[in-house]
Amino acid sequence: MKILITGGKGMLGRTLLRELCSTTEGGPLLCEPPEIVVADLPEWDITDDAGFASAVQAVRPDVIIHCAAMTKVDDCETKRELAFKLNEEGTRNVALAAKMCGARLIAISTDYVFSGEPPKEPWAWSETDIPRPRTVYGASKFAGEQMIQMLYPDNSVILRIAWLYGSGGPSFLHTMAKLGAQEGAPLKVVDDQRGNPTSTKVVADAIRFLLTKPDVSGIVHGTCEDQCTWYDLTVELKRLLGDRFPREVTPCTTDEYPRPAPRPKNSALKKSVLNLLGYRTPNWKTALADFVAEEFAVRT
Ligand SMILES: NC(=O)c1ccc[n+]([C@@H]2O[C@H](COP(=O)([O-])OP(=O)(O)OC[C@H]3O[C@@H](n4cnc5c(N)ncnc54)[C@H](OP(=O)(O)O)[C@@H]3O)[C@@H](O)[C@H]2O)c1
Repeated sequence: MKILITGGKGMLGRTLLRELCSTTEGGPLLCEPPEIVVADLPEWDITDDAGFASAVQAVRPDVIIHCAAMTKVDDCETKRELAFKLNEEGTRNVALAAKMCGARLIAISTDYVFSGEPPKEPWAWSETDIPRPRTVYGASKFAGEQMIQMLYPDNSVILRIAWLYGSGGPSFLHTMAKLGAQEGAPLKVVDDQRGNPTSTKVVADAIRFLLTKPDVSGIVHGTCEDQCTWYDLTVELKRLLGDRFPREVTPCTTDEYPRPAPRPKNSALKKSVLNLLGYRTPNWKTALADFVAEEFAVRT
């Protein structure tokens, strides 16, 4: 199997490159390690429609995993045109290239497609809930989803993930681990936004599972189980890092930490499709402990 990964040098792409070629504890899920082609800047540019199409045509992949995106949520607010150029037009070009060579498309999307305003608590967004993005990032990613659903619905999966962290970062966890090691006043962390922290390893495992289900198409949610706030996540990181995170942590509200792009109050995702297929992602605390043990060489 030949797999092309757009944005393959990014945080998720790097984990996919490592994980899809390795075996799982219970043995390999894929019959044999796939051949992987990393498609990232500067050699590969998803916004160059003709150039990208002919480069994909030359490779003729069986599967395209589309990770390339403009991912900096606050930058998207001030660079709207660029955000849509990458996340909508770029995704359209990827969908057309996949269609041209009959490759299955697994495109990564985000919890930001939802409003983040839950009608009631506790809440988690399902694959069938209607997106209402409140940010340029969310709107541009949703526009990309619509491109895929219009152009190539039968052989594509839109895999929505959230609160991502992975080897090498950058991520919220890397920032907190660094700040937590420094002396200073207690770290104030937002305690009124809820979501599913999810490691790139968990996403790679879910993708590996989806690769064994070629008939699955449409929207799939792929985050860790159970939800928490950024404060809860930081407290758990502090517990796992022990002496290496001596600084105190204290909860604060979103109002105390304003950002250019509004953050969702609750963007936790229900994994209805994966669960129906008999697949369960791990709890966020389990995935976090695995990550901390590997990334920060901590025994947990
Ligand atoms: N990070 C999160 O918390 C999060 C949460 C939910 C969903 N997601 C989604 O998950 C996916 C992967 O995220 P990530 O955190 O791994 O992102 P990332 O680290 O920013 O990686 C994206 C990669 O795409 C590349 N890229 C940018 N423009 C490109 C272009 N025109 N052509 C080809 N490649 C291009 C980037 O290169 P440069 O670095 O040189 O720009 C980078 O290597 C994205 O679709 C994102 O929307 C992320």
